[in-house]
Amino acid sequence: MAKSIRRGVVACAVVAGGWLAGPAAQELTLPLKPDSVRFGVIGDSGTGGAPQYEVGRQLAAYHEKFPFTFVIMLGDNLYGDERPQDFVQKFEAPYKFLLDAKVLFYASLGNHDDPNQRFYTPFNMSGKRYYTFKKGNVRFFALDSNYMDPVQLAWIESELKSSGSDWKIAYFHHPLYSSGIHGSQTDLRLLLEPLFVTYGVDAVFSGHEHFYQRIKPQKGIHYFVSGGGGQVRTGDIGASTMTAAGFDADRSFMLVEVADKELSFQAISRTGKTVDKGTVPRREPVRATAGARVPEVIWRDPGSVSSARR
Ligand SMILES: [Fe+2]
Repeated sequence: MAKSIRRGVVACAVVAGGWLAGPAAQELTLPLKPDSVRFGVIGDSGTGGAPQYEVGRQLAAYHEKFPFTFVIMLGDNLYGDERPQDFVQKFEAPYKFLLDAKVLFYASLGNHDDPNQRFYTPFNMSGKRYYTFKKGNVRFFALDSNYMDPVQLAWIESELKSSGSDWKIAYFHHPLYSSGIHGSQTDLRLLLEPLFVTYGVDAVFSGHEHFYQRIKPQKGIHYFVSGGGGQVRTGDIGASTMTAAGFDADRSFMLVEVADKELSFQAISRTGKTVDKGTVPRREPVRATAGARVPEVIWRDPGSVSSARR
């Protein structure tokens, strides 16, 4: 069956399954537990177009009900030019309400991003292509999937190994699992997945594909693709047995809450409809003894604009 036909079948299945007919706009499904870690997720956001602003307004509206304190950015933070006025048009203006409310943004780099974004203070990258930070009982690892070399891999292993009993959430641009036009980045998966499995990463968020897709747990890890923050590739979620849920009819973003041993998520469309929701348990703690072998290979996205500028 041709790919386009398969995708048409999936789109029908999505409607029949009720994924598009969610609850009324701006219904919060997250538990809002005391002292939980709450954050937003946007990917492939930086178009500067009207839909990005509409997603920004939904984020602001949900912030009233779900006062998250930070947002992780899954890359392609700015498409096209990156002049000072572009940072205003493609980031500061669409998320003005959140920035005014002191919500922090933690960016990762996509293939359309100049790595000099790491010096842009509101992205909180501290001048680094990859970095880690902690919120409550959650340790985040923001990686640069444009260029995965032994130095970064050794850093990831060292940081994961020393991160103790916290929740571990990794995020970066290129998805290890997806069924869109780009597909799963299997070469990158060979490098990262052994480390994630060995050192107990609980959940992974990526973009690059311009839709929302939740993957069935892979080796115990929960994978989310959330690359519809500014663009959408309608009907692009191909038929795949690894899909747990998906939404490719409009732009979208995510809200996430981590409390004790549970992570709750809600995926929301540009118009405020809930397109996926759920709760996943924390993985059982992994006791890493031997360590994962860090391969002496480099993975590079050939389409990255950043390679020549490093
Ligand atoms: Fe991308």
